[in-house]
Amino acid sequence: MSVVKAAVFASGTGSNFQAIMEKSDLRCEVVLLVCDKQGASVVEKAEKYGVPVLEFNPKSFASKAEYEALLVEKLMGAGVTWIFLAGYMRIAGPTLLQAFENKIINIHPSLLPDFPGKDAIGQAFTSGVGTTGVTVHYIDEGIDTGPIIAQESVDVLPSDTEEALKKRIQDVEHRLYPEVINQLMGK
Ligand code: GRF
Repeated sequence: MSVVKAAVFASGTGSNFQAIMEKSDLRCEVVLLVCDKQGASVVEKAEKYGVPVLEFNPKSFASKAEYEALLVEKLMGAGVTWIFLAGYMRIAGPTLLQAFENKIINIHPSLLPDFPGKDAIGQAFTSGVGTTGVTVHYIDEGIDTGPIIAQESVDVLPSDTEEALKKRIQDVEHRLYPEVINQLMGK
């Protein structure tokens, strides 16, 4: 049986990309990192793992449809069938969504539908909730909407700082995302 080929899309640090790459029994092969931010440290991580990088500058295209058409061409050319968003700071448009229907997932640091969008950990921390968490979900054209695949709670402790909460949430992300990816492979 041939191995499923996947791409990771990321814009920043890439700790989730690293967690996926470090999973020893990952049931797919990450054949491409797609990055829209020049100088993002995820690119160095990809080079360390020998994963080819496709960097693009959205501003040099006339529209989202135009850069997504290029991405779809490159992804299909590389045999990619699944896309894992890991801190990719852009909303996917119809060109990408239609080409990879039900094959694009995202990880978000809250219990969606609570605290979508940017700074979900800060939003939860300042709101005073007792519990937040992590969500893995399929994406659609909304901001952190789309059917939920898995969630795990993280308690906000009375003694917490935002940094301490972030660390515990990221620890959950790094375990949960590769696990969920493995559950989805073959489906
Ligand atoms: C993670 O918290 C993820 O949930 C969110 O963006 C962050 C990316 O972090 N979508 P990293 O680049 O993987 O370290």
